[in-house]
Amino acid sequence: MTVAEVICDSPIRGHGRERKPFDLPEEHVMTSSISSVVCGIGAYVPPRVVRNDDPAFSALDTSDEWIRSRTGIIERRWADPGTSTGDLAVRAAERALLNAGDRGVDLVIVTTTTPDHRTPSTAPAVAAQLGLGTVPAFDLGAACGGFLYGLATADVWIRSGAVERVLLIGADTLTTFIDPTDRSTAVIFADGAGAVVLRHGEGTEPGAVHRVRLGSDGALKDLVIVPAGGSRAPDPEVTEGRRRHSVNMQGKQLFQHAVSRMTESSRAVLQDMQWSADSVQAFIGHQANQRILSKVADLVGVSEESRFGNISRVGNTSSASIPLVMNEIDMQPGSKTLLTTFGGGAVWGSAALSWPILTPRKGN
Ligand code: COA
Repeated sequence: MTVAEVICDSPIRGHGRERKPFDLPEEHVMTSSISSVVCGIGAYVPPRVVRNDDPAFSALDTSDEWIRSRTGIIERRWADPGTSTGDLAVRAAERALLNAGDRGVDLVIVTTTTPDHRTPSTAPAVAAQLGLGTVPAFDLGAACGGFLYGLATADVWIRSGAVERVLLIGADTLTTFIDPTDRSTAVIFADGAGAVVLRHGEGTEPGAVHRVRLGSDGALKDLVIVPAGGSRAPDPEVTEGRRRHSVNMQGKQLFQHAVSRMTESSRAVLQDMQWSADSVQAFIGHQANQRILSKVADLVGVSEESRFGNISRVGNTSSASIPLVMNEIDMQPGSKTLLTTFGGGAVWGSAALSWPILTPRKGN
């Protein structure tokens, strides 16, 4: 069995309450008493703006017209050499903690596919730089699915009663894994970080995470892959050069899987919640390609005015993609929010939450 669909409608363990079946009608879902609740958001992208006509792309057989029309990207942000994923993560997390108004957290999760080092993981160093003491801290790798996998993980930790507050950071410096001579990836991937603070709360509160559905299909692992540098092909055994240490992507096949998985998964979460597609007030998909996002939103039936994105300005920032958009928008607290993603693995996921109460946030 290569396809695993995990429904993270977490049981409420340790609190003497019953597990809720996932198809309960909305009024029951909304009155479930324990939930994780988003209470702070922050983001950071590096200052260097790289437009489609940047000299960095001049040796590539590409054009502004091709990139805009095929991907929706006009510009993206690149970290300067020497700036790591952890550096971006710290900046985004500082802003999220400030926005939450309380620096206390019991767990730090960094979702990334470009960690600072192969070992140790990036999260402990980020926690230390933030002055968060000796709280547990770990990395979670799920490529462009990272943020929703992290959200599900944070949600389960909080609902279990193991922790009260979690700092979840999605951060990537994809440019460190890109072959600058490969036009099919060099113009797409970019750098950034987004963070949310989640706290223990009530399912009826604005910001409550209602549902997260995750899935994977390892049979598709070669569609977007860095072939060398891991245990299957460690550096000393590799002779094929830079390409094998960079992201290799089969875009056309990924496109089709991304559309079908994000659509199915979004529909399933809507059904879980008994939400109609046109009742969704904020729809945020992983910013991989504007054509994918529009197609998924059309197929799901989400209205034009509830679609939010920033791919034209930031490109594909992998784990940072969804929280970067969340940081940019202001919705009425309690607004029905649907998140969806698809990425290397292949992995996918969707989440339903209500829009949080947030104090004004700092941009870049
Ligand atoms: N500039 C100009 N031409 C380019 C190009 C570029 N930057 N990148 C690729 N091309 C070419 C291809 O080589 C191909 O040429 P050919 O027909 O001579 O072989 C042609 O454009 C069409 O390629 P194709 O892959 O069919 O284009 P596309 O419309 O599918 O767009 C992607 C390519 C990568 C933008 C698109 O497939 C995509 O976004 N895929 C999904 C990515 C994704 O979801 N990733 C999730 C994990 S991050």
